[in-house]
Amino acid sequence: METPRFATLTLDDGRSIQLPMMTGTLGPDVIDIHGLSTLGVFTYDPAFFSTASCMSDITFIDGDAGLLYYRGYPIEQLAKDSDFIEVCYLLLNGELPSAAQKTEFSSLIKHHTMVHDQLARFFNGFRRDAHPMAVMVGVVGALSAFYHDSLDINNPQHRQISAHRLLAKVPTIAAMTHKYNVGEPFMYPKNHFSFVENFMYMMFATPAEDYVPNPILVRALERIFILHADHEQNASTSTVRLAGSSGANPFACVASGIAALWGPAHGGANEAALKMLEEIGDVSRVAEYVQGVKDKKYRLMGFGHRVYKNMDPRAAVMRETCHEVLQELGLENDKLFKLAMALEQVALSDPYFIERKLYPNVDFYSGIVLRALGIPTNMFTVIFAVGRTIGWISQWNEMIAEKGQKIGRPRQLYTGSPRRDFVAMTKR
Ligand code: ACO
Repeated sequence: METPRFATLTLDDGRSIQLPMMTGTLGPDVIDIHGLSTLGVFTYDPAFFSTASCMSDITFIDGDAGLLYYRGYPIEQLAKDSDFIEVCYLLLNGELPSAAQKTEFSSLIKHHTMVHDQLARFFNGFRRDAHPMAVMVGVVGALSAFYHDSLDINNPQHRQISAHRLLAKVPTIAAMTHKYNVGEPFMYPKNHFSFVENFMYMMFATPAEDYVPNPILVRALERIFILHADHEQNASTSTVRLAGSSGANPFACVASGIAALWGPAHGGANEAALKMLEEIGDVSRVAEYVQGVKDKKYRLMGFGHRVYKNMDPRAAVMRETCHEVLQELGLENDKLFKLAMALEQVALSDPYFIERKLYPNVDFYSGIVLRALGIPTNMFTVIFAVGRTIGWISQWNEMIAEKGQKIGRPRQLYTGSPRRDFVAMTKR
């Protein structure tokens, strides 16, 4: 047995405490600061730069080395050799499925892809030009109103069926959101398609024509989903966990995750990156735009990451997919793609970006791929949400299954007014 290790904290008044050190299977050691409250002090770490909010068996990231593992498997191997439904099984259950388990899981998910017919009416309440993420927050949250039969979060079977429903129905709702936005009829899921083919069918098919998915494009979207499936305790996942820690139902929790994902510093970055490329407009304007970034007038969207201070391993895979897709579609000379490559080159060789360890992240390339697939810019973050749903639900499930799980409740450093007496209106 390992000898317990401690970190000693001594306050300037001489009081001292021994804080236990914790060791994970990978990654840096962690100091357990639970006991600090006995000294009547808290720690201050507002954007969680140095704070682990939970223990988790699901995903490991080493930002300096550029590593990302799902349940121990490197993301590059999963992106190359696996498919999204298998990755979903892995994230949710902890192990890769056998052939029989995969067939059963895949069939189970397929048989949950339809949504209650009543749900379709929700869309009419939104303006046609509503941002698809606004619609997603509302409609996914509304799923809570449909499944009263399985909302006992302390029942593992209920949690499992909710997980399957979310995984299966979020893509259907996402495609409906797109169809509503462009004024086309909703396309019901078709069970003979794979998970990703079915999503593309619901997005792009119309009742007027047959739809045959292009395998290269299906593979590209499959990779986007795999690469976005989980990313340990990021802002949206932490939101799902915090909402879930109060006992809220999983549909409501995932809706809160979708809301957190929307921001441009998180999932909104792929949309923001593409808008930025459109704004730059031409290769000749790259130098001028980069100067504006250095002058801190704006940020280079799709660059930088809180954790990866080296290459984002997902970006390397996405970059390769990006080339494959553009070649398949004959878009290598596409103006925006050329512009993106020029920007990438400037940023990778400029000391400003090198010193700050700012590399293209996955969203820089995924935006270009999604555009090439014909997915409108305002749907980019929705695609991210479709991929991330399995991560959210796996993390939520892990948290609820934990023994002694408690509501999450950060503390604060109060900086407002000291106590003062109420002043009557006439005396103010
Ligand atoms: N463009 C230009 N400069 C940047 C960028 C950027 N994209 N990102 C960081 N910097 C600079 C900052 O100005 C700062 O410079 P300074 O030291 O001179 O003040 C330095 O790099 C550190 O920046 P922070 O904001 O402290 O870095 P942080 O880790 O908090 O931010 C974040 C990470 C939010 C991702 C940031 O890099 C960013 O805004 N990127 C653009 C948005 C984006 O692509 N987000 C996607 C994240 S990936 C995902 O969600 C899948």
